[in-house]
Parts: sequence; C-alpha cells; structure tokens
Amino acid sequence: MKAAVVVGAQWGDEGKAKVIDYLTERADIIARFQGGANAGHTVVVEGRKFVFHLVPSGVLYPDKICVIGNGVVVDPLALLDEIEQIRQRGIETEGRVLLSSKAHLILPVHKALDGAMERSKGERSIGTTGRGIGPAYSEKAQRGGIQAAELLDVGRLRERLVAVLERGNRLLERVFGEEGVEIDEVLERYSDAAGRLASSIRDTSRLLDEAMRAGHRVLLEGAQGTMLDIDHGTYPFVTSSNPTAGGACLGTGIGPSRVGRVVGIAKAYATRVGHGPFPTELEGEMGERLRDWGGEYGATTGRPRRCGWFDAVALRYAARVNGLDELAVTKLDVLDRVDEIAVCTGYRIDGRELDDVPLRSDEWEGIEPIYEWLPGWKSETSGLRKLEELPGRARAYLERIGALTGVPVGLVSVGPDRAQTLRTADHELFITG
Ligand code: GDP
Ligand code: IMO
Ligand code: MG
Repeated sequence: MKAAVVVGAQWGDEGKAKVIDYLTERADIIARFQGGANAGHTVVVEGRKFVFHLVPSGVLYPDKICVIGNGVVVDPLALLDEIEQIRQRGIETEGRVLLSSKAHLILPVHKALDGAMERSKGERSIGTTGRGIGPAYSEKAQRGGIQAAELLDVGRLRERLVAVLERGNRLLERVFGEEGVEIDEVLERYSDAAGRLASSIRDTSRLLDEAMRAGHRVLLEGAQGTMLDIDHGTYPFVTSSNPTAGGACLGTGIGPSRVGRVVGIAKAYATRVGHGPFPTELEGEMGERLRDWGGEYGATTGRPRRCGWFDAVALRYAARVNGLDELAVTKLDVLDRVDEIAVCTGYRIDGRELDDVPLRSDEWEGIEPIYEWLPGWKSETSGLRKLEELPGRARAYLERIGALTGVPVGLVSVGPDRAQTLRTADHELFITG
C-alpha cells in the first residue's frame, strides 16, 4: 500500500489538522515529517477543541499509531508536556506516539538564539514563532545537532548537551550580546526527559516500511505550507524545513516510489502569519471581516493572521512543486456572507503580467494582483453535508478554483468540526502498488 501525503498549499494554517483528523479514519499510521512546535494544528470533535504542536493530528483515534518523523525538530520537554495534556483529556497515548531515533532535538539555547537573531534583523525580521526552529535546523545542517537516539544514553547525552549549549551560549554572548542559558538546569531537565521518552524512540523508517508492506495505510502529515518552504517558499520569509511533498519522503525515511496520492489543503481565501510577501493581502475592512469571521488568530502564538483573497497563482505553483493530485478546500463557510469574492488569477509586476511566481525574491514586494470577481452565495453552508446541497454559486466558486489551479477539489470543509466535512472525490486516498 502506498502512503498518502497531506500538505499545506498556502502559507500554513490551511486547516491541515482538521482534514488529517477526518482522513485518519481510513488510515492506520499518521506520521509528521517536518517542522516542530512552530505548528499549531487544531482539531474539533463534537465541540471539543484540541491544538497539537508536535503530536500528529490523528492521535484522537485510539487505535492509530502516531509517528514523529526524523525530519521533525523536537524539544523533548515540549513533547512531554503536550503528551501529558492530551492524556489529561482522556486520550491514551502509551505505546502509540512514537519518536524517530533520528529526529533532532531543540534545546533552550536554540530558542534563545531564535529570539536574538530576530531582534538583530530589526525591520527585516521574519516574525518567527520563537520556538527555536531555525537555529535547531542550522545545528543539524552544521552537523552539531543531537538526535533523539542520544536520549537513550544519559551519560553521553550530558556531554553532548554541554557541547551544544556552550557553543550556543558563546554565540549568544559574543555575537548577539545577550545572556546565555543556564547549563546545569538544562542538564537536569533534559536528562529527566530522556528517561521518560526512551520507550517511544524507534527506527520509524523501518516501522513505516514494514507497515506498508503489510498493507497498512500511512498518512504523512505536513506542517506549515508550501509558501513557507525553505526551498520553494517566499525566501527568506520562510521556515527552515521543507513542508512540500518531497519533504515527506526525506522526513520519514521512505522512498518516493512508496508515495501515492498527494493532497493539498487550501483555505477558500488566504492567510499569512509573520512577515513577508502576501500579494492578495487585504488591509482594510474586508481583511478585518475575514479575520473576524474566520477566527484568524495563530493557534501557537495567538498573533492575528493577515487575511486576503484566494491566490490561484500561488496555488498553481503549489500544485506544481508538490505534484498535487487533489485539493481540500477549507473554511468555505467563512465566505458565506461575502457579496462578491475575488480570486487572483495573475500578478502584475512593473506593468508586466505574470501567470507564475516571480524569479527574484525582491519582486514579490511589488506585485499587484489581477482579480477575477465571482458572486457570493449569501447563505449558510456550515450545516450542509453533501456537495449537491451546496448553493450553485458555492459550487461554481469551487469549480473555478479547480479550473484555475488545475487540481480537482476532492474535499470541502464548512466548519471546524470533524462532522462539517464533505468528501467529494469518489476515489480512494490510499492506492495499492
Ligand atoms: P493547520 O495549522 O493547517 O492545522 O490549521 P490551524 O489549526 O492553525 O488553523 C485552522 C483554523 O480554522 C482552526 O481554528 C480550525 O479549527 C479552523 N477550521 C478548520 N476548518 C474550518 C472550516 O472549514 N471552517 C471554519 N469556520 N473553521 C475551520
Ligand atoms: P502550521 O503547521 C503558519 C511562520 C512564522 C514565520 C515563519 C518562520 O500551524 O500551519 P519559524 O518559527 O518556523 O522559524 O517561523 O513561518 N510559521 C507558520 N505560519 N502556520 C504555521 O504552522 C507556521 N509555522 C511557522 O509565522 O513567518
Ligand atoms: Mg496552524
């Protein structure tokens, strides 16, 4: 059985977790492949709201295995806290939330460096989530990082921690003129965490391989979104990992031939949190309405999200770099009250028209979106459960999105709850091969 990949097709917060939770019913294993606790993944089931940061969004089904892949950067303390919170809400996690032995650790020094680097950038700061993501991936790329497997030997771990913390502290103090982190306290807390996480550390690449060979269905969960990808996003205003579909293989240790369908999640409009280009951003009253109706505040940091119209140019690009087979369109209900809805079909830069993203990163700043206007449906969709029940104009909007992006819409979400989901595709998500 081939794995299916779910990725964010915009700037993150597309409603990935909601869709993953919904699709998990048909899966056996859900594996996160990149990012860290910068992610805020919201799932609502019968009015109960959960926000996950590191734990895969399939965890609410008691019989499913949740894997945190090698591509994820993990603060062991944050992971233990999150698992504890989930347990306290009556969800058993024992033996089914597993951590790759190759996942790299985030330490307090990485968080401190994240803040220090942001402050030093001043006006050109990225607006990171402050979770230490950039410095932890830098540490990994520099070949100084600590992998989860090293938690299994506490004696050696302490030496490794001291080396990484001392180096980080030197950077903090000498380059950024800031205070270093307290080393002894970190050693105590991380040695303790090591003992508590030890039983969940596995060779998860092997586990996934064996599961797929046995016919089990694996769902690979992306965090962030395509336009935040370090290679394919709006660099340098990006995160430090690959949220695009290729990252799913690298971040879990399975080969590309083992992946089948790729599903892209997109809101019926667009949002971005943090700094950087956002061509369809609405700064006036309409932007505020979308924020208000969509509850657009960050699930991790609580920051207000910037809101704008659906950007079909960025989506077409996402379709290409991810190889999307199918789109899931979320938050359609947020547009229920809008009279006329705009969709960006092209970019104008210095009088030139583009049907693709610009080549140079500085060109993003001067983009004027070219809009096509569609009539709103002006009726409530949140109670609807079948595609045929959607108002004609809502269906026309979805069809237009499908046509402009070249990707069929296979799922529509009309509210945060698991039940408020319309699966419109008649094919299977998991294919054999
Ligand atoms: P993720 O990071 O992609 O998983 O998305 P977030 O959880 O950060 O943000 C999505 C927000 O929209 C959450 O508050 C969800 O509960 C909510 N949401 C998801 N789908 C829908 C939908 O179809 N309609 C509405 N109104 N809210 C939704
Ligand atoms: P989910 O998985 C939206 C943004 C930050 C910042 C940039 C870099 O919930 O969709 P980082 O802390 O990663 O170094 O920040 O990326 N960002 C997200 N935006 N959703 C997310 O995750 C994000 N994770 C990071 O706001 O602009
Ligand atoms: Mg989110």
